[in-house]
Amino acid sequence: MVIRRSSAAVSTDRRIGRRPVQDLDLGPVVLPRDAPVFREPFVTQRDQRWFDRPEEFSPGRWAEAAPQRPRFAWFPFGAGPRSCIGEHFGRLVLILAVATIAARWRLTPTRPISPAMRSLLTLKPRGAVWMLAQSRGKG
Ligand code: HEM
Repeated sequence: MVIRRSSAAVSTDRRIGRRPVQDLDLGPVVLPRDAPVFREPFVTQRDQRWFDRPEEFSPGRWAEAAPQRPRFAWFPFGAGPRSCIGEHFGRLVLILAVATIAARWRLTPTRPISPAMRSLLTLKPRGAVWMLAQSRGKG
């Protein structure tokens, strides 16, 4: 739930690019062949049509019955035939890392955490995230 919520709020990839191989008529918009087109998980995953209170970190919501939303309203690993081949491995690593750290350490923010992000290849917090790490005494 934490992983799903985190990757909904702050997808690591800011934008995912494509170029149509031919003119693409989407009704109100025609995308010309070879035009750069960007899909932004960061934007879609904050759309209030699909996500209630998108700015709020509330992982418990993923335990509830999923509201009806389009299949690709959540796509931190991209979509389609060129989507991430490492999705399952990446999710497994994230789950193991969070579970391992959370089992051994209690992390408490010591300064307010700014929601500001910076976009390089991936999205990162703009400033440092200051945390106090306290051992849970489990080795
Ligand atoms: C949390 C971890 C990861 C995230 C959020 C992530 C995200 C993404 C995204 C958004 C794309 C672009 C998909 C698209 O264009 O539709 C991508 C592509 C790709 N990812 Fe990942 N990825 C992760 C981990 C990994 C890992 C662990 C591997 C390899 C072991 C991997 C290998 C790839 C490859 C090879 C592509 C290009 C696929 C293609 O163009 O056909 N990724 N990833």
